[in-house]
Amino acid sequence: MEIFLDTGIVDEVREASMMGVIDGVTTNPSLIAKSGRGQDEVIKEIASIVDGPISAEVIATDWEGMIKEGKELAKIHDNVVIKVPMTEDGIKACKWFSDNNIKTNVTLVFSPNQAFLAAKNGATYVSPFVGRLDDVGHDGMAIIDEIRTVFDNYGYTTKILAASIRHSTHVRDSLMVGADVATIPFKVLKSLFKHPLTDVGLANFIADYNKANKKA
Ligand code: E4P
Repeated sequence: MEIFLDTGIVDEVREASMMGVIDGVTTNPSLIAKSGRGQDEVIKEIASIVDGPISAEVIATDWEGMIKEGKELAKIHDNVVIKVPMTEDGIKACKWFSDNNIKTNVTLVFSPNQAFLAAKNGATYVSPFVGRLDDVGHDGMAIIDEIRTVFDNYGYTTKILAASIRHSTHVRDSLMVGADVATIPFKVLKSLFKHPLTDVGLANFIADYNKANKKA
């Protein structure tokens, strides 16, 4: 499974990139707003750090507007993936981008039927929002599992990008149900490295080493 970092903060991208485990980055208007900077400059800087797909979202809600914005975003860097919302206009724009060899990420996906329509129109990625489904009492991970079955049944090559990941269990479950990618906030990424038994084990090894070396 690939790991994308879900952020608009360039320092987080830099630090995660040094860990060597991230394959790409996703942003959305809310994440970019948190950075206090403009989308274009943030995307440009991220592209200079990470050599992988970087999702940048359109703001227009009509398909002509999405295509216009998407064409400009695609000019920033070859790795830019155009994020369009899961609406009729978004899916129409998705078809145009796909026909013109521009990669897309269909966002705000909450059902297998929505993922199916995006895949039919050539989406590169679909982003089912696991955490937001959990928030309203649904089982977010079950949707990922169902989309996996749909795509495998019909041979769709659209990648399933598990989004709205809130904690390490979401990452483990994404691995178990066969998501192609999980996009992970920086804090959650850092938590994946941790286990209390690792800390205790390391402290014991160092203490034993120090004891042994004092005796010698
Ligand atoms: C990423 O592409 C999504 O926009 C993001 O994962 C949404 O996460 P949230 O539900 O925590 O805002």
